[in-house]
Amino acid sequence: MTNKLLDCQYSHTQESAEISKLSPIAEDMQLIFSKIESDLPFVKDNSLQDLMSYTKNMEYPIHRWYQFKEGYSHKLVTTILKDYAPPKNFPAILDPFCGSGTTLLVAQANQLPAVGVEINPFIAFLSRVKTGWFKINPEELERVLKRVLKDNKSARFPLPELTTFHNEEYFPNKNAYELVRLRDAIHRRKTTPEVKDALILALVASLEDVSCLRKDGRLLRYIQRDVITPKEALFKRTMVILEDLIAMENCLSQDTKVLQGDARQLDSLLSQNIVHNKFGLILYSPPYLNNFDYSEVYKCELWLTGFINSYSDWKELRKKTFRSHPESRIPSTSYLKDTPSQREIHLLVEKAARCQDIGSYAQTRAPRVIRGYFDDVFLMLKEQMVRLVPGGYIVCVVGNSKHGNLYIPVDTLIAKIGQALGLELVAIRIGKYRFSRNQKNQRLRESLVVFRKPELL
Ligand SMILES: C[S@@+](CC[C@H](N)C(=O)[O-])C[C@H]1O[C@@H](n2cnc3c(N)ncnc32)[C@H](O)[C@@H]1O
Repeated sequence: MTNKLLDCQYSHTQESAEISKLSPIAEDMQLIFSKIESDLPFVKDNSLQDLMSYTKNMEYPIHRWYQFKEGYSHKLVTTILKDYAPPKNFPAILDPFCGSGTTLLVAQANQLPAVGVEINPFIAFLSRVKTGWFKINPEELERVLKRVLKDNKSARFPLPELTTFHNEEYFPNKNAYELVRLRDAIHRRKTTPEVKDALILALVASLEDVSCLRKDGRLLRYIQRDVITPKEALFKRTMVILEDLIAMENCLSQDTKVLQGDARQLDSLLSQNIVHNKFGLILYSPPYLNNFDYSEVYKCELWLTGFINSYSDWKELRKKTFRSHPESRIPSTSYLKDTPSQREIHLLVEKAARCQDIGSYAQTRAPRVIRGYFDDVFLMLKEQMVRLVPGGYIVCVVGNSKHGNLYIPVDTLIAKIGQALGLELVAIRIGKYRFSRNQKNQRLRESLVVFRKPELL
């Protein structure tokens, strides 16, 4: 990834001199950022307020098969499709961080071809099963469900190695064993791969019904409560899938591709998978710069589905994800630094990383995360530009963050990196404000950064 970018004439001596002057306090940074923002096309858009979260999706067919808390509303995608429609001759839509597949399902419902990329194998599976809904035969699903629920094979199947499954407070009534037994019963049935996958998804969606663990921000939290049995939960969750499949029997479908891979290597990933198209709209929400580690929060799902079977595989996955959290550790890079047009932004990121007010815990880890995150932003945008048709739009949905007392306007920095790459910045539409977890008086923006690729780029 590095070599392409190393052909610049960059004066390292000059840079070292400038950087040695940097060690600002949070207030200095705030002033610098405010000055930059006064020249950017910000708009507060109240109509987006309720569309930035997944909650409403839980009332909608297929979206409701699994609650993916970090996703956005399907209505947000509908709004974006209306405001930034792909050109008629390039209708395909790309989501390089497709998560639970919200973008892809809405594209599908609008009869538009769509491709999603996702690095986490469980989350890619989730997207694949949902967007492949029309391949699941409802009668066969019901038949196999009955057989699985009647299967009383009593042999004890080994639990996944992940210690969480071995804690009886987390999984009361030996529910962890029952989950694994049901998983095995699903795998043993003779049926189509689509029916098996739908049942595995229903089983995984049951994790919250049968355990005392709740996803709470970056953590799984223990909450003492009554749980139901895995058989009851599997039945309940599969019934929801069946209901939606029956309701959608006459709906048209559109084939959608979900690729497991890295959005920072988009072009080669698409080419390897024989996706040669150019896209008219690239719409996504990358991981936020907030230390959230998807591989940690979705660990039970990863291990129960068998996508991860050992601690070393788990560590490898964490290491190679987007550099938004300290467990992500690809070798350090210097793309912003080594690209002349990004030099000002590099200095800005470097100042932020050296800020005195990052906070004691984060002092050692945050600077590496901040530098890595914006190098990854540069890479993702650069790769997206290769596949975006001239005149097409990129819409990036992102939230700002706080590290100690340092406020980082991620939307602004993404806007600046995109502009320096040659993209036209159409708008930064502020969707809503949320409160920082640690400092309740600090409001953090969540915005849509909208770019257009100029015709002559
Ligand atoms: C904010 S979520 C996307 C949610 C999605 N918009 C939805 O509605 O479900 C970001 C996703 O990016 C994925 N991710 C992290 N690093 C990645 C990478 N390098 N390439 C592709 N996906 C990545 C995470 O696993 C996560 O699912």
